[in-house]
Amino acid sequence: MIPTPTLESPPEDRLLADLHDLSRIVDPDKPGWSRQAFTAFDRDGRAFARRRMAEAGLETWMDGAGNVFGLLRGTGAAGGRQIMIGSHTDTVESGGRFDGIVGVLGAIEVARLLQESGVTLAHDLVVVVFFAEEANPFGLGCTGSAAITGVIRPHHLDRTDVDGRRMGDALPDAGIEPEEFLRATYDFSKVTAFLELHIEQGPNLEAQGVQIGVVETITGFARFSALFRGRQDHAGTTPMDVRADACCAAAGTILAVERIAGDRPTSRGTCGMLTFTPMAVNVVTELAEVRGEFRSDSGTWLREAEQRILEAATAEASTRGVEVEVETAADGDPTPMTPGVMGTITSVASERGLSHARMFSGAGHDTQNIALHTDVGMIFVPSVGGRSHCPEEFTETADLLRGVEVLLGSVVRIDAQNSTVRNNTSPEGATR
Ligand code: GLV
Ligand code: MN
Ligand code: MN
Repeated sequence: MIPTPTLESPPEDRLLADLHDLSRIVDPDKPGWSRQAFTAFDRDGRAFARRRMAEAGLETWMDGAGNVFGLLRGTGAAGGRQIMIGSHTDTVESGGRFDGIVGVLGAIEVARLLQESGVTLAHDLVVVVFFAEEANPFGLGCTGSAAITGVIRPHHLDRTDVDGRRMGDALPDAGIEPEEFLRATYDFSKVTAFLELHIEQGPNLEAQGVQIGVVETITGFARFSALFRGRQDHAGTTPMDVRADACCAAAGTILAVERIAGDRPTSRGTCGMLTFTPMAVNVVTELAEVRGEFRSDSGTWLREAEQRILEAATAEASTRGVEVEVETAADGDPTPMTPGVMGTITSVASERGLSHARMFSGAGHDTQNIALHTDVGMIFVPSVGGRSHCPEEFTETADLLRGVEVLLGSVVRIDAQNSTVRNNTSPEGATR
């Protein structure tokens, strides 16, 4: 019998202890929880997860892209095929203790529970921690999963941060050799399905009183940067009508992002990065750089938004005698989850008496990249107050355990459905 983690069972303490221990591996000089990719804290965080995997009896390794894997061998009755589960352990600056982490520690917990039950899956179970899921200073997110799914190309290493540093030159700080990063790959032809347990990061499950979210689609992205070049002048002596103020052109563009995204209830627009040169109250700004992004469940809308921000930035610049260069990076269309996997998650939740709802994810996830190569599904648990990417991010223990319960049940179900010959036509199977 496969055990079900219950609210009273010992795994509660074990999972909470792991969450607590990992939450201590953070930059002490920043508020909240900061374990950002390309820092020693993130390297230590992935090493922590690897140790926990080894203690749980998994064979562990790290690939050339910084992804950490743990393997729990099955009986072989699935012909050497694998089920993969996991998420990420890096955080945004001053982030929380749950985003990504729940999917990694929950996956390790599933591996422990399977072994304690004495049940060996037909599949090999692979637990993964993806490197650098959060958008990094080079404007790239889901970096480790992008590397092993062939999304990363050599030109990505030329992306620069606001100080002009190339991503290719920063990778060694994270213990990653650029050549190996570009060569990193994973044989997804042997992966029957990938599942990611994650906190919702938004208010819907809590507001609706629903325990489990079954993700239907993950948002698409369109990121952009706009560099405005004006003229540096004295703030007190230069009349307003002769200025070429890069700061004002940037400000107008930021407001255009808000206007464009306000058009559609499921679309979003954010400018989270802005730099001025020089940075002084008594100097008219010469250079201003804005970096931002649009998100939506519509790929068509994203392409229109890219065009509209290009036009808005150009208009803002030309009315002020400022030059502008806009770079857009279509970072991907919205990603649908595999219907068969959604069905499996839904039936597991129903059988355990858990309320559930299909939902859209406005947050990005590594699952988007893995979906290029195999069947995928995501299990969401509620976020208190819908807060995330902030120190207040919190999920109740009971909800965490329900998520682990559904993850475990879904792994077992997918294993049973696919343990002899892979059946792509089974209505409950892990099929597209
Ligand atoms: C990842 O957390 C993202 O959606 O930015
Ligand atoms: Mn995440
Ligand atoms: Mn995040």
